[in-house]
Amino acid sequence: TQRTFSMIKPDATKRNLTGKINAKLEEAGLRIIAQKRVHLTPAQAGQFYAVHKDRPFYGELVEFMSSGPIVAQVLEGEDAVAKNREVMGATNPAEAADGTIRKDFALSIGENSVHGSDGPDTAAEEISFFFSGLELVG
Ligand code: GTP
Ligand code: MG
Repeated sequence: TQRTFSMIKPDATKRNLTGKINAKLEEAGLRIIAQKRVHLTPAQAGQFYAVHKDRPFYGELVEFMSSGPIVAQVLEGEDAVAKNREVMGATNPAEAADGTIRKDFALSIGENSVHGSDGPDTAAEEISFFFSGLELVG
């Protein structure tokens, strides 16, 4: 079993899609073992996305991710990192497969409803950015 970090982004919390997104995660066999709603400051969003700081969309990304509440989550399950990326779908919703979260809910490549860690090491870092060990209830 493996853990991954997930975020429901501001475009989705604004449209009241938390439950529908969680249903898709759970239907895929992922267990939500921690979850909290947070409104990031621009500085916090910038720190979370520091790996993208040289990309042309960094400013827009930080502005968007601090524009409203997000739901930070820890997901657990068999191959959780890969499984979550599969349920999320491609970054650009126009390229996302049918039935994925981004195909069904995302508005654009920027406002794409969810974040998911891209590997187990990133997952561990991202989980500790938001949660203490006490908050992880397996
Ligand atoms: P995450 O799970 O959010 O990390 O998505 P990803 O791994 O599918 O994409 P990537 O790590 O390449 O980019 C991180 C995030 O930056 C994406 O989810 C988008 O929200 C945003 N992003 C990526 N490309 C663009 C772009 O061309 N324009 C804008 N505005 N945002 C982008
Ligand atoms: Mg990524």
